[in-house]
Amino acid sequence: MAVPGMIEGFSKLDRDSRIRLVAALSDESAGTEAVFSSHLLEDSERQHAYHEISENAVSNYILPLGIAPNFNINGKYYLVPMVTEESSVVAAAAAAAKFWATRGGFVTRVQQMIKPGHIHFIWQGSESELTVFFTGIKPALEEAVKPLTRNMELRGGGIHRISLIDLSARLPGYHQIEVLFGTADSMGANFINSCLEAMAAELVARAAPTFPGRLEVIMAILSNHTPDCLVSCQVSARVEEFALAASGLSGADFARRFVLAVEMARVEPSRAVTHNKGIYNGVDAVVLATGNDFRATEAAGHAWAARDGVYRGLSRAWTEDGALHLMLEIPLALGTVGGLTRTHPMAAAALKVLGNPGAATLMGIAAAAGLANNYSAVKALVTGGIQQGHMRLHLPNLLRQWQATPDEMAAAAEYFMNKPVSYQAVGSFLNTLRTTKAYKP
Ligand code: MEV
Repeated sequence: MAVPGMIEGFSKLDRDSRIRLVAALSDESAGTEAVFSSHLLEDSERQHAYHEISENAVSNYILPLGIAPNFNINGKYYLVPMVTEESSVVAAAAAAAKFWATRGGFVTRVQQMIKPGHIHFIWQGSESELTVFFTGIKPALEEAVKPLTRNMELRGGGIHRISLIDLSARLPGYHQIEVLFGTADSMGANFINSCLEAMAAELVARAAPTFPGRLEVIMAILSNHTPDCLVSCQVSARVEEFALAASGLSGADFARRFVLAVEMARVEPSRAVTHNKGIYNGVDAVVLATGNDFRATEAAGHAWAARDGVYRGLSRAWTEDGALHLMLEIPLALGTVGGLTRTHPMAAAALKVLGNPGAATLMGIAAAAGLANNYSAVKALVTGGIQQGHMRLHLPNLLRQWQATPDEMAAAAEYFMNKPVSYQAVGSFLNTLRTTKAYKP
């Protein structure tokens, strides 16, 4: 029976029918249909490839792919591709990259790349009984996934460890079989989940005859909590290098204020969230540009930020022997082969721009982008404030909101060169311009 407001079979409609239906149900049907249609690619094969990525597609949602040049990472220069919806993120990354390029650059280090997954199950019985059973079937669990791991082993990955974890103190009967994976240069989500599901089936099959009804698998899934996929990134420069004539700060003053600002984020969660958001401005932009999973990296990063029970800023800053040091350490489970990294033409192109790096190198690049954005944000905050630079870069967006013509945009760019930019200031400038008819809109 049809329910008012419910749409049946939307996914079965072809794309143009979906567009028409959505437009018909929207407030401004003509506008919606035109926008959706005009954002489709002419090359139908390529368009089809995009729409294969996710379901119920009606059009493309376009974001700019920007390049932040001059990233000197471990002595090698990179053009870093960034995709973001926020103005000033790419400019901030580029400005920081240029500053640090001639001061030793970004020094990154990947400690390890181990990804966990779990079979979550409920066990009704004694711990010793379960431990004996688990030890006995462990080789069979490994054997059950041989067809899957063989290929991964050839690429340098595979299974590192399988262990039994007792969580029954938190939830009656709750246990996990934790499997630690290496997935080489792939993000490896499908590989890990396939292994876990195959092991879970083996576990159930082995338990059924000996412990009927006493072992119930609830789920088998990778964990995005990846504290063993850590990458660190550091920059350092002599304190004198930070003297800022414009804000009247000596290098030592700047460094003192900078360190305090970073420390504030270490001790106060409300500030830490914003501080880390600034870091993920850079990280996510690279993660997205290279076809990686930004929700996974964010979730992992926030869990890492709260690992001692208090949500803290992810970077640290300190002065030592006359130098200012800024360091970021985050988990980043990224891949450079498989998945969207090759099927999305822009992700593949972005990886090419980076020289087709391996996963560990990409982790360093994304961390460097995060640290670059963090440096630029905190630098702005402890000097002239964030709005000065941010709003200037936001000017074209504000002008578009006021429907400015190209002539008006050019006039505004000149006028706001040395003046504070705000939505109201732009409106009032355009109003004056339009009423005095200095330019014809
Ligand atoms: C804005 O996108 C990011 C900042 O808020 C980060 C920060 O406060 O450190 C400027």
